[in-house]
Amino acid sequence: MIREVVGEIVIGAINELWGAKIASSEVLVEVERPQNEFGDYAVNTAFALSKLLGVSPNEVANLLAEKLNEKKPAEIAKIEVAGGYINFFLAEGFLRKELAKIHKDRELYGRSKIGGGKTIVIDYSAPNIAKPMHVGHLRSTIIGDALANIYEALGYKVIRWNYLGDWGTQFGKLIAAYKLWGDKKEVEKDPIKTLEGLYVRFHEELKEKPELEKAGQEEFQKLERGDKENRKLWEWFKKESLKEFEKMYELLGVEFDTYAGESDYENDLAPTVADLQKRDIAEIGEGGSVIVKLDKFSLPPALIQKSDGASLYITRDIALLKDRIKKYKPEKILYVVANQQALHFQQLFAIAEILGLNSAKPEHIKFGLVLGEDKKKLSTREGNAVTLEEVVEKAVKLARDVVEKKSAERGTSLSEKEKEEIAQVVAVGALKYQDLKEHRNSDIVFDWQRMLDFTGNSGPYLQYTYARLSNIKNKAEKISAKPDFNLLTEKIENSLIKHFLDFPDVLEKVGEVNLPNYLALYLYELASLASRFYETVPVLKDENLARLAARLVLVETAAAILKTGLGLLGIKVLEKI
Ligand code: ARG
Repeated sequence: MIREVVGEIVIGAINELWGAKIASSEVLVEVERPQNEFGDYAVNTAFALSKLLGVSPNEVANLLAEKLNEKKPAEIAKIEVAGGYINFFLAEGFLRKELAKIHKDRELYGRSKIGGGKTIVIDYSAPNIAKPMHVGHLRSTIIGDALANIYEALGYKVIRWNYLGDWGTQFGKLIAAYKLWGDKKEVEKDPIKTLEGLYVRFHEELKEKPELEKAGQEEFQKLERGDKENRKLWEWFKKESLKEFEKMYELLGVEFDTYAGESDYENDLAPTVADLQKRDIAEIGEGGSVIVKLDKFSLPPALIQKSDGASLYITRDIALLKDRIKKYKPEKILYVVANQQALHFQQLFAIAEILGLNSAKPEHIKFGLVLGEDKKKLSTREGNAVTLEEVVEKAVKLARDVVEKKSAERGTSLSEKEKEEIAQVVAVGALKYQDLKEHRNSDIVFDWQRMLDFTGNSGPYLQYTYARLSNIKNKAEKISAKPDFNLLTEKIENSLIKHFLDFPDVLEKVGEVNLPNYLALYLYELASLASRFYETVPVLKDENLARLAARLVLVETAAAILKTGLGLLGIKVLEKI
């Protein structure tokens, strides 16, 4: 990649000039991609060098530029100094050659082998059975899926892991509640809602009848011991919940390699606690509970076993981490989970360090809250958390209205079925993009209008740009002239090609920092450049067919990268909107 070429020649020149004085490891050459007129690539290495050499940055930059100009590679047209920066301008001939190559690769462009087939485990979505998936799980699902796609494109082997919340004392309470007030038919009709209702009722009645606490505990112990009736109930709750989750995954177009959940680690818990105690990592705490002190990490102690012997979320996570490392020897493990669980993961990773389990670089991929338009936590009129289903349904309905309006405006005739399909793809794209365009740590505000605005920085805008590019492509189907890339002399054309060149770098960057918003921004810029291009350059009206053909190559390449990029974000494109 050209960026690497620039970096290499700069290091070469530094070595030639000052190799005797400075080791190359002392200076970091970072190649920037400035969005201005001063150059296509830039390095600010002269500033760091000036400190080491005791000479002004400008003087260092001038010496370096002189040396670089002596052996300027064919890819670079010009090297200049401005304010201590060294700026590189790409040669047009190089750009044209690259365009031909990228166009040839089209669908595959951007994919690389950086990952070398190493394994990455990505833990995402992870809803809790017998409870509705909420918008936090939606964020985890969307961000996790995008990261998984991007790592795959970078040549990693990705294990997509939906670690279901299907174990814990709450299931004892749920079973107790079901035995007291449950109705089979009602559960069958609307499983998650009914089960959640039972759980809520249990907690309400608990206020008056404290003895329920004990009943819940006992039911859980029975479940743990493998009591047939309880086991069957729990399995049924799980099956019914999964059916509903899967409907949602299908709509969102996400898949998993494994659904191994908390219950799958049930048998590892007692040995894990015993092992930690034997190695003096864990000790007895209040009332016979078991804790791991984490003072060394400036963290509060982690409770790994309650005084009644019940295990906890963190205990299961320790067992899970061990299992993942043993089974997959992963290069990285990413946990895509809300900010609120930061302390949990700090404690988990501290314990991992004590146990020497941090070879797999476990990392908490945090994200913020989802807020309503009033900047308060997203909730229904009754004050309950909004479920995922409600959100998706509303998005589809609104998208349907927009599609209806658009097609009436443009006089396109779409069948009911087509409208329905388009509305689905647009709604899901809008939901995903509005999440992925933000830095994941920030809270996102649900702004329905903006999310579905075809002219703003939105999913529908990107999908619409793709449909426009496709339309141009289709209209020009019969043109078979040979493209002459030397005729691409418009500034916007060069800007587009340079933007194409950035795509692999952007994917690599996302893999380094786990921030899909870099890819979203890249695609937004690509769509903006592409629409400026087809709005200002009359692609199809050109009498010079060799230029027309060259411009079609630009159109096809932009469309292909948009499609690949959106696909990596989990967003589908449409040939017409
Ligand atoms: N089920 C949990 C929740 O809904 C998230 C699990 C995240 N993954 C993990 N390994 N702890 O809060």
